[in-house]
Amino acid sequence: MKAVAVLPGKKSSVHEREIPEPGLMDQPHPHVCKIPEGRAVLVKVLQVGVDATDREINEALYGNAPPGGEHLVIGHESFGQVVEVGARVGEVKPGDYVSCTVRRPGGSLFDQIGRNDITSEEVYYERGINLCHGFLTEYFVDDAEYIVKVPRDLKHLGVLAEPASVCAKAIEQAFLAQERLQVWRPRRAYVLGAGQIGLLATMMLTLRGIETHTIATRPGPHLKSEIVEAYGATYHSSREKSLHDLAKQVGKPDLIFEATGNPEVCFRAMEVLAHNGALVWTSITGGSQNVTIDGARINLEWVLGNKLLVASVNGNRRHFELGLQALSHGELTYPGVTQKILTHPVAGLSHYKEMMRLLENKEALKVYVNVG
Ligand code: BGC
Ligand code: ZN
Repeated sequence: MKAVAVLPGKKSSVHEREIPEPGLMDQPHPHVCKIPEGRAVLVKVLQVGVDATDREINEALYGNAPPGGEHLVIGHESFGQVVEVGARVGEVKPGDYVSCTVRRPGGSLFDQIGRNDITSEEVYYERGINLCHGFLTEYFVDDAEYIVKVPRDLKHLGVLAEPASVCAKAIEQAFLAQERLQVWRPRRAYVLGAGQIGLLATMMLTLRGIETHTIATRPGPHLKSEIVEAYGATYHSSREKSLHDLAKQVGKPDLIFEATGNPEVCFRAMEVLAHNGALVWTSITGGSQNVTIDGARINLEWVLGNKLLVASVNGNRRHFELGLQALSHGELTYPGVTQKILTHPVAGLSHYKEMMRLLENKEALKVYVNVG
């Protein structure tokens, strides 16, 4: 069967290749974890989303092949349909729509209790990213433990399950961490960035009844600002208004969700957070870039204001479920809005060059491949 792969460490190595079609008895990542007998699920891939991570893997900024080979099949945002299940699988059946989690357990205590998303080991195993093959192919097999059912009526948004899990986890982490305050009722949030993560976070925050301001570079109106407003939030352009101006205009935020991919913004955000507030970082900034900030002032304000910085990566099966719940809730509250994020379909695996090209396109909110 066909797959889209890279040669990690080698720039612009994305290519199409033939790989063996998996069966229920195969072990997809025997170097990490084994599927227990009877617990395998075979999935036909329908759609795979791609994001900046795929672009940066192709730029050789990170990513590793599974041991014993040179290539890594990419793609970590999966959506497919179950073809066959092992004798001990009751959670899903053939025909069900599913997504699959990304991270596989390492050896830490967190991994052993099913929290691979917060492994304390430096080496992490992620399908399509690091040391495990991904989903940009025709079929995959994995442990039922990592397969998450997508409601049939939500199948048009199934390819957003993984990005939604990342947002759901980050927001949950902020709320869990803020239990330190004994009572925390955030009234106002800023979302920095209006890519897929920023937009889905905007939706999840307005669904919680939080006054949400989403800030991205370009002045609206355009698709991003339209989606933000349709979610009941307010769009602002950082070209027209600095974070300080915004704070003067609407008030400081109790929660900041950072998703710009810009390290400067990650730190600038620290200057406007309200007392007792939480700043959540979700950007993954490849490469290296220095940022100049007024450290004395931020330290003073942060200590005197009991402020908190939380960083969050990945999403576990429960976060996938939370993300899918939020997508469903979003469909009922803002019908038809989320699918506007799905801007750039690619017609099959063999169009992988176009897929990579579209990842450079600033207009593309979501690039995804229609595989099956
Ligand atoms: C993925 C996460 C992953 C992270 C780090 C992101 O693009 O969505 O699942 O944990 O990259 O590799
Ligand atoms: Zn991703």
